[in-house]
Amino acid sequence: MPSSKKTEKWGSLIGVVLAVMGSAIGLGNFLRFPGLTAKYEGGSFMIPYFFALIFLGIPIAWLEWTLGRVGGQKGFHSCPGIFRILWRNRISPYLGFLGLLVPVGIFMYYILIEAWCLYYAYLYLSGTFPLYKGGNAYIDFFQNFTGMAQDGILFDTEHSPILLFILFCYLLNMFIIYRGLVKGIELVSKIGIPLLFISAFIILIRVLTLGTPDPNYPERNILNGLGFMWNPGTPEKSFIESLMNADMWLAAAGQIFFSLSVGFGVIITYASYLKKDDDVILSATTSAAGNSFAEVALGGLITIPAAFVFLGKEGISDSVFQLGFITLPNVFEKMPLGAFFGFLWFFLLFIAAITSSISMLQPAIAFFEEGLGTGRRSKYFYIIIYYINWLFICSIFFQGSNCIR
Ligand code: PFF
Repeated sequence: MPSSKKTEKWGSLIGVVLAVMGSAIGLGNFLRFPGLTAKYEGGSFMIPYFFALIFLGIPIAWLEWTLGRVGGQKGFHSCPGIFRILWRNRISPYLGFLGLLVPVGIFMYYILIEAWCLYYAYLYLSGTFPLYKGGNAYIDFFQNFTGMAQDGILFDTEHSPILLFILFCYLLNMFIIYRGLVKGIELVSKIGIPLLFISAFIILIRVLTLGTPDPNYPERNILNGLGFMWNPGTPEKSFIESLMNADMWLAAAGQIFFSLSVGFGVIITYASYLKKDDDVILSATTSAAGNSFAEVALGGLITIPAAFVFLGKEGISDSVFQLGFITLPNVFEKMPLGAFFGFLWFFLLFIAAITSSISMLQPAIAFFEEGLGTGRRSKYFYIIIYYINWLFICSIFFQGSNCIR
């Protein structure tokens, strides 16, 4: 029996396409993808990447959009509910339960990185980013504010106001969700996604016009940077040799799942708020294409080439956190108007992250609404979510330095 009497619906089809794109375009596009591409000989990685996109990502996205729309018509919005109408078996809702547990699990660490991005954007904007003082200044800074440097350092707000930023991000996420589908998620995506693309284009133009910033290193130029990122194979490893690497194929498939947000239950839930005649195939394909554009054409062209022209091949790390939070600040410092571009970059990352993190909460919301018969604004639901969040914040306190090592 359908549990929700008055079902919410998206305001417009473009709104839901942007919301799904918002979920898909995230830290995975701008940090994880460049890191993996650098790790797996650039251009070679694109072969398994596009294979996985075409044969796994897009078909699964079609499937999720279709399942979601069917479920929504029957009054269900969470995976347990939708699975139960698809397969009338006692275990089906339990299988569907994964479709809300996994996104909430990802949310718990994703929001930390979201807060790091906001913190860096704030530091650049306020002009308080500590200037490079040689040695390991950026690494020390990163380790201090994330709590890696020393147990208990997170309590020291002078070193680490990051807890306040984390709290702020939690509250902002809750607030957006609380405002509902159209006034919350859809509105944020409609503003956030264009803003994100505009910011990324501005940074991209800056990066592609960097030329050869240091005449002492003529080989560190933008063409070689693009080559480092995109040439299939390296002097050490040929294209065919790279393609024989099974790890790379697995990593590419993993990247497609993570990046498109498919296989997590998020899209099923989003699509369950479609109207009966809303198109699913074109919408799913458009959002997947938008995501891959942001990943390959923006994420892939900005991060690594920018790092290459200033730091050379040796300066580039394929560790995602190192690339984002240590290498790039180093690059912005050397770039004309670096503080402005630093702000724009981390602000972009923050927007990308928040439009993804809100999508990770919606499946659980849908579940509570139909499972416990609570309304969106029901106090029971919020009490539960707050408990989950506070548990996580407590875990940061207790684990201290170990939680992100
Ligand atoms: N697609 C997001 C990214 O690329 O950062 C991450 C993500 C969002 C994963 C939603 C899973 C999810 F359910």
